[in-house]
Amino acid sequence: MFILKTIDELKSYRNSLENKTIGFVPTMGALHKGHLSLISKSKEQNDVSIVSIFVNPTQFGENEDFSKYPRNINKDLELCKISGVSAVFLPSTEELYPSSDEVILIPPKNLTNKFEGSLRDGHFSGVLRVVLKFFNLIKPHNAYFGKKDAQQLLIIKKMVNDLFLDINIIGCPILRDSNNLALSSRNIYLDSTAYNKALQIPKAIEGVSKAVLGKEINARVIEKIALKELKELDVDYCNVVDLNLDSIEVIKEKESLLLIAVRIDNTRLLDNFWF
Ligand code: PAF
Repeated sequence: MFILKTIDELKSYRNSLENKTIGFVPTMGALHKGHLSLISKSKEQNDVSIVSIFVNPTQFGENEDFSKYPRNINKDLELCKISGVSAVFLPSTEELYPSSDEVILIPPKNLTNKFEGSLRDGHFSGVLRVVLKFFNLIKPHNAYFGKKDAQQLLIIKKMVNDLFLDINIIGCPILRDSNNLALSSRNIYLDSTAYNKALQIPKAIEGVSKAVLGKEINARVIEKIALKELKELDVDYCNVVDLNLDSIEVIKEKESLLLIAVRIDNTRLLDNFWF
């Protein structure tokens, strides 16, 4: 497995790949089984799989957890190696952001002025900046993102569409632990009390899933079913929306999703259900 730390190293590796299909999995490290499932999908669909590990400062707000975001590079590299990753791109901040005054990207208003976007000012602009840099450097054919960060996935798809990028964006299913909590690098912040509280989130998802199997299609009823399970948590949002993130009255298969974000102590946890 190649470990590429500079843009020059990455470019010369990329040039050596010629006609191979390239799969790309961007990450901020602290890899868990969710990331490994993206890597495994990439390996299945491409000749070469490249993973980036970079805790991107431009997507963290001033009062967010950039400095304490979990970092465990040796373990991450080991996991990449065991998973059969072809190369890891491990740039420094200076390498990726050489200029303090650079072109930035403004994500579309309608996808950004709500949910994570309204609570985390500048977050999606920072995500697009770094993802576009990666896309331009790595030139992947396919790029893999978890459906857990649903809003991020939709905004990245929109960027690829609007900027005519020739890259397939593949959204991959949420992976859950043995108690059905969605895997996230931030789960590490939860002590046992917080973890037990967090289990109300998968209960809400299960309640919604059962209701949908029972043919419930009313979006407000579905939100109420979820909120009933979340009643002891600080809920940032729990809304049924379409793929433009607009509120809807009635769910439609493959065109709607329930978005949930809660705060437990200082940790924000996201989950969602794609109908
Ligand atoms: O989802 C993440 O881990 C990050 O937002 C990403 C896509 C790696 C960009 O920093």
